[in-house]
Amino acid sequence: MKSIHMACDHAGIELKETLRAHLEKMGYTVTDHGTHSKESCDYPVFAHALCHAVEAEGVPGILICGTGIGMSIAANRHKGIRAALCTTELHARFTRLHNNANVLCLGARVTGVELALAIVDTFLSTGFEGGRHQRRIDLLNA
Ligand code: RB5
Repeated sequence: MKSIHMACDHAGIELKETLRAHLEKMGYTVTDHGTHSKESCDYPVFAHALCHAVEAEGVPGILICGTGIGMSIAANRHKGIRAALCTTELHARFTRLHNNANVLCLGARVTGVELALAIVDTFLSTGFEGGRHQRRIDLLNA
């Protein structure tokens, strides 16, 4: 069974629901760390909740806010997280191949639904290349 974690702030809730339905259709078990309403909220709270789960379980995560920037800043404070804000499929492909990113960040006010779906599919279907890229990842926490 494939598992994935998702979280968003108020700006990302509609995109999260769309992506969640898509992921469930693909056979993923989705754990949703909120937020669950459009009421204004603080993105770091949701980023940290998701990152603790991703670090503990070793499965991927998706974070969504208005730009994706706040979520990526918050997520990358976690030692075990390599969060990538992606606005193109190329970003998604290479952040998996080269950075072994384990959290995808999206900006719901920046990236349209169709592109977001394609970015998610690319992120989840691309593997890490390893080799020299593993050495570089090791240096991140050195
Ligand atoms: C909320 O208005 C907005 O600041 C937030 O969603 C995000 O874009 C922050 O980086």
